[in-house]
Amino acid sequence: MRAGKPCKSGFLCRGVGSRDLAAVAETRACRHILPMAILKIARMGHPVLSRVALPVADPTAPEIRALVVNMVETMMDANGAGLAAPQVYVPLRVVIFQAPPERAPEGIDEEESYDHTAALTVLINPEIERLGDAMEEGWEGCLSVPGLRGLVPRHSEIIYRGLGLDGQMVERRAKGFHARVVQHECDHLDGMLYPQRMSDLGNLIFESEVRARIEAEAETEEQVADA
Ligand code: NI
Repeated sequence: MRAGKPCKSGFLCRGVGSRDLAAVAETRACRHILPMAILKIARMGHPVLSRVALPVADPTAPEIRALVVNMVETMMDANGAGLAAPQVYVPLRVVIFQAPPERAPEGIDEEESYDHTAALTVLINPEIERLGDAMEEGWEGCLSVPGLRGLVPRHSEIIYRGLGLDGQMVERRAKGFHARVVQHECDHLDGMLYPQRMSDLGNLIFESEVRARIEAEAETEEQVADA
């Protein structure tokens, strides 16, 4: 971590507040003006993960921007899809996430594909509105529950709202993995980890066993289909 010197690319650094967060990515590349850090991640059992996080009073405050930059750095380093501030010991209602196109189902049209995907997004003081009662199960992992995966039911379709770093409202409809990652991250703000959402803890398994498990299930399905 280096800090202190004014940066030649100060223009890029000042762009961090832009809505699409491309500027955050640019800031990540600029190591002179903003000190960045890979933060320690709290693990299941630490009290910060089970308390209700507090609303952010001013989303445009420099401390919040610095927190988000460090969260992005930490999430990228850990190869995560999302991160909530309590996971880095900051009990505030801030989450970041992304839902890459590779996670969307194949063969869907462009409009639906939009609901399934999200570029790197910051949500401050987020709220979730469920659309309908449909639920779907999917495997989840969590940087605070390392080494494990669980099969978790989530609402299939939601609308989420929250504030960006510029204080402007962000509102999106989300489906599938996109809806899942937002529900997972927002649960962190209410002190909830994914095992608490599981209906059957028999589906809480080691990461190394997920592939074997999915292959075994596919085999069973084939056997049923053949019977
Ligand atoms: Ni998590």
